[in-house]
Amino acid sequence: MATTPLLSTERPEDPGGEKASEKTGLLHSHLPLDVRNQWYALALSSDIPRAKRGKVGAAAESPMSTSLLGDPLVLWRDLSGKAYCVADRCPHRSAPLSLGKVHDTGHLECIYHGWQIDGTSGKVIEIPALEEGKSIPSNAKVPHYPVFEQDGVVYVWPGSVEEALSASKPARDTDDSGAPLVESSSFVLQTLCIDLPIDHSLMVENLLDPAHVPFAHEGTIGNRKMVEPLHMTVTKTANGFFGRVKEGLRNGFEAPCNIVLYTPPIPGKMDLYQYIGCTPTAPGQMRMIYRAYRNFATFAEKIPPLKRLFDNMTKKIIFQDYQLLLGQQQRLRERALPWNSTIQVDCLPLAYRKYWQRTFGKRSDGPWWRGWDGKMDIEDLEKLGSWDKDFDCNGCALPRRPHHPQNPLEHSGAPGHALRPDYPASWR
Ligand code: FES
Ligand SMILES: [Fe+2]
Repeated sequence: MATTPLLSTERPEDPGGEKASEKTGLLHSHLPLDVRNQWYALALSSDIPRAKRGKVGAAAESPMSTSLLGDPLVLWRDLSGKAYCVADRCPHRSAPLSLGKVHDTGHLECIYHGWQIDGTSGKVIEIPALEEGKSIPSNAKVPHYPVFEQDGVVYVWPGSVEEALSASKPARDTDDSGAPLVESSSFVLQTLCIDLPIDHSLMVENLLDPAHVPFAHEGTIGNRKMVEPLHMTVTKTANGFFGRVKEGLRNGFEAPCNIVLYTPPIPGKMDLYQYIGCTPTAPGQMRMIYRAYRNFATFAEKIPPLKRLFDNMTKKIIFQDYQLLLGQQQRLRERALPWNSTIQVDCLPLAYRKYWQRTFGKRSDGPWWRGWDGKMDIEDLEKLGSWDKDFDCNGCALPRRPHHPQNPLEHSGAPGHALRPDYPASWR
């Protein structure tokens, strides 16, 4: 990984004050501000259904429904396994295409009148009720998005198709030497896909913050008896930055929303690399695409009850964060600030929040809702009830709702309000 030491941020004296504002600003000044023209981890490869020869109608596979940057999307594969992503609305009468089926032609068939969508172009290529000799209307097409797969993850590019062609691909999952991490006899891969009703920015901050572990994760990976003073040194990378509170540990951020953690349980003896896509599916909603490579307890992956134990432990750790982040999100919606007073070790999440403020948090030119016709804003869509629906957890590793631990602040089916982006000047 190409890195540039950022000496001026290595020992910020006053992370919450004016100087820190300048220093943490340096950390993200090189990152692209256009968060639409980026690759986003949106699903595990194993969760996207593939067309089956001879299967149509009810017997056929259902596609995966999800969303990205507030735009409902649908994913499926053709017979060869190639994955496609288009907007989840039929070009005929806007029925959700995700209610349809993956036809054995490899095209996506709408549930309403059976029109079929070609994933490569987004065009309708079959209309069963079309009169003989008539051609398919030229505007019978739907926005389609580039898809890329790597390391068992499906990435989607929600920006311009032309820009995706020339853009570099998402970074591989690598070990410390830069070699790609792959499943092998010495490394096993654990994956999870979980939808959470919290803003992705809160999870990114949380994963960049080692000081919460002894308290928030008591009972799993935390132990308050192990608390010690922490000092974070920070380094800029080509597409983000990372921090270290100890040699051999690393908390990293890669724009626009990905986390790279190196947290070996016993440094020098065990390796644990975690890659976590905290994908903003909508304001106030995120999908976590989690993969962890470990070189210890590898046998557990081959023994189903032990594998379940590992998966449940990981979920428990995630849900420990989830419950407190949901409460924090509620306070932020009540107009509290994401940062009040800070200490040195907060410099990493603080730098991220400043990047967020320049990108996802921008009210006038933010990423939300631009995928439709650009005329509606979020309030209009909420009035239409776009988000007054339950989660679709296709691809989520857990059963359908209510599948997450209950938090008294959670209210099912609530619209996904964004965090308030117009923080007062005093915070900036
Ligand atoms: S609404 Fe999809 S085919 Fe008519
Ligand atoms: Fe945590």
